[in-house]
Amino acid sequence: MTFDFDRIIDRRNTNSLKWDLMEARYGVSKDTGIPMWVADMDFLPPDAVNEMLQANAAHGINGYYGDESSYQNAIVSWLDRRHGYTVDPAWITTVPGVVPGYSLAIQAFSEPGDGVLVFSPVYHAFGRAIEANGRKVVESELVQRDGQYHMDFEGLADLVDERTKILLLCSPHNPGGRVWTEEELRELCDFCLKRNILIISDEVHHDLVFDGHRHVVTATLSEEIAANTITFAAASKTFNLAGFMTAAAIISNPEIRRKYVRQVHACGLGPNRLGILATVAAYDHGELWLEALLPYLKHNEERFAEGLEAAIPGAKVMRMPSTYLSWVDMSGVDLEFKEIVNRIEQEAQIATNLGAAFGKGGEQFMRFNLACPTSVVKDALGRIEHVFEDLRTQATIG
Ligand SMILES: Cc1ncc(COP(=O)(O)O)c(C=O)c1O
Repeated sequence: MTFDFDRIIDRRNTNSLKWDLMEARYGVSKDTGIPMWVADMDFLPPDAVNEMLQANAAHGINGYYGDESSYQNAIVSWLDRRHGYTVDPAWITTVPGVVPGYSLAIQAFSEPGDGVLVFSPVYHAFGRAIEANGRKVVESELVQRDGQYHMDFEGLADLVDERTKILLLCSPHNPGGRVWTEEELRELCDFCLKRNILIISDEVHHDLVFDGHRHVVTATLSEEIAANTITFAAASKTFNLAGFMTAAAIISNPEIRRKYVRQVHACGLGPNRLGILATVAAYDHGELWLEALLPYLKHNEERFAEGLEAAIPGAKVMRMPSTYLSWVDMSGVDLEFKEIVNRIEQEAQIATNLGAAFGKGGEQFMRFNLACPTSVVKDALGRIEHVFEDLRTQATIG
């Protein structure tokens, strides 16, 4: 079976956040610009998803969704065969997205003013959700070693206190794509167990891991760790279904689950019919699509890393073992960060995410979304090459 990830699909004027808001957010024209910011893909999902939508439209009625068993079974089967994670369907609670899901957990398991530990720089919605809920962001800055991020275990004990109630873990990590090893996760979870810190493990990028790396599900480390963990999983990143706003909170500990479900009910939340159906279609029929997607993303990543470092002297691409979000350190470039951003956004007309939004340590970085046809990556590189020509000339003369 072949999948056409090279196909350019015009997403303009479809209420796409990535395309239709880039002019307002970045001053990058949707007619001539390239959106490499928010994390969705410019690819069609597996055919089964759109076939389901067509069948649904042909029937035509979209009342409340009932009976989540096929959805739960699809998740259970996926997590078992792709991640070796054995889940009881009863552990699954449907929530309207991973971010709303962990916001509910923050509300249920901490009080205003309590601390939530994160490893920064990290996905910008972590800090936003923590602060919007009146909790304190406790940032442990990741350390760069051998071109990858590492957790600073030595500094952790001094950072937390008795009011640090939750760890919000990003695994695999966004940005940078770090896939945490079993040893790292074990050390971190033991640290949390000793201090009564609840672990919220956001594993939304778990399927987008490249060959040679293995994602370890936090809750598989031990019974004790599982009993202290809420895992978030979704088909949204894997299969490009983010607009359906559907995710799963997986909780094996009945007490934690009861409290979490109470919070979900307190907000009157229920399943999104199309989100559930899309998830089932993707998990049940999308595996070959995903197997084809991964090498395509990896190829884009390699091409981009090589091209960008050649185009901008001093720029350093963090080579990512997972995700499609390339994290680029501009601190070695002989220009002010503002000027680098100006050249990429305004002159090259490429919208990216700026690193400062990801917290401490991200200030000199830019994040580029590479989930687009390779021809678009090449186009972006050509533009970047053009607007940094003077730096390369200087470097050659120097
Ligand atoms: C680590 C991480 N968690 C959650 C999300 C968003 O999840 P959702 O759209 O389900 O809220 C993203 C999106 O980029 C992400 O990178």
